Amino acid sequence: MHVRDLGCFRSVAVRSDDASRGVAGHHLLDIETLEASEIRRLLDRARELRDTVSQSAPVLAGTSVITLFYEASTRTRASFEIAAQRLGASVITVTSSNSSVSKGESTWDTGRTLAAMDPGVIVCRHPHPGATHLLARAVESVGRTAVINAGDGAHEHPTQALLDSLTLCDRLGSVEGRTIAIIGDIAHSRVARSNQLLLTKLGARVLLGGPRSLVPASLEAIGGTIIRDVDEIIRQADAVMMLRVQFERLVGPPPFPSLADYNRTYGLNASRASLMKPDAFVMHPGPMNRGIEIDPEVADGPTSVVAHQVRNGIAARMAVLERAMRKGPWQSQGQGQSRGQEMS
Ligand code: NCD
Repeated sequence: MHVRDLGCFRSVAVRSDDASRGVAGHHLLDIETLEASEIRRLLDRARELRDTVSQSAPVLAGTSVITLFYEASTRTRASFEIAAQRLGASVITVTSSNSSVSKGESTWDTGRTLAAMDPGVIVCRHPHPGATHLLARAVESVGRTAVINAGDGAHEHPTQALLDSLTLCDRLGSVEGRTIAIIGDIAHSRVARSNQLLLTKLGARVLLGGPRSLVPASLEAIGGTIIRDVDEIIRQADAVMMLRVQFERLVGPPPFPSLADYNRTYGLNASRASLMKPDAFVMHPGPMNRGIEIDPEVADGPTSVVAHQVRNGIAARMAVLERAMRKGPWQSQGQGQSRGQEMS
């Protein structure tokens, strides 16, 4: 267990040792504990699955995948559910409002309850940083279920970073030596954090931009270099990833004068986008707040790869689900390893 600084958000205790490492190729809880070689394998496998999806074997037939979402989601949940179905799994959707969470059940007890039904995988999104690590410990105390982090508070969103790198590699060949800009509310963004970690591991140059209140200097420790002049970042970048302000995580009023002022100073409008290199392109994990961090003519324009990111999400999550179940190329990896204790 160790404590990490999440910039201006809050400190959090996150367990990133044995929950994700002790049972290699099982849970996917963060990018931080993933080796660069394992990231490359996941990206290669996602490409293979994407190219052969019509012929791919239903390797998860007979497996149940539970999506356990304590926070709103459109693309991440749909993408995981489609990915699981394409691999032949049956999918059970549990949200906090339609489950015993609304009766006050703890994440720990929900995890143990679901794990006792022996699903192959629980995909979890949670508002609290570190909650999916806790869930992994809860399910390990019962059985053999793998946990995949679909976003835990402002901590990590590992599959978003994987699909982003898949998209970057499609356009750039490789991210190594390339300059990738991340602009917006980086302090509260799990997407930014996972991308900073992943892109740095793969040898990219990461540039970070946004207001000091949302991009404090301490964020450089996670990966990347802050440049305060957003126009300068945009001129240098091979790809520009825009992030929305995470209003739901702000304490008090937004730390900038007005939305119009934010848009003027940090938003990607057509005139700012015209500063990009000729082949550079624009990314956004969604949901977009048009007119704030990105203007419609850029979001829907020829340099936007947002729809491509969403499509790549399915292949990236198929690879992650296969790995969680030690199927496909991960089949031999689990031989002889314990997947947790049985319920006593
Ligand atoms: C992101 C998230 O939930 O962290 N969305 C997503 O999963 N694509 C980004 C966001 O909410 O801003």
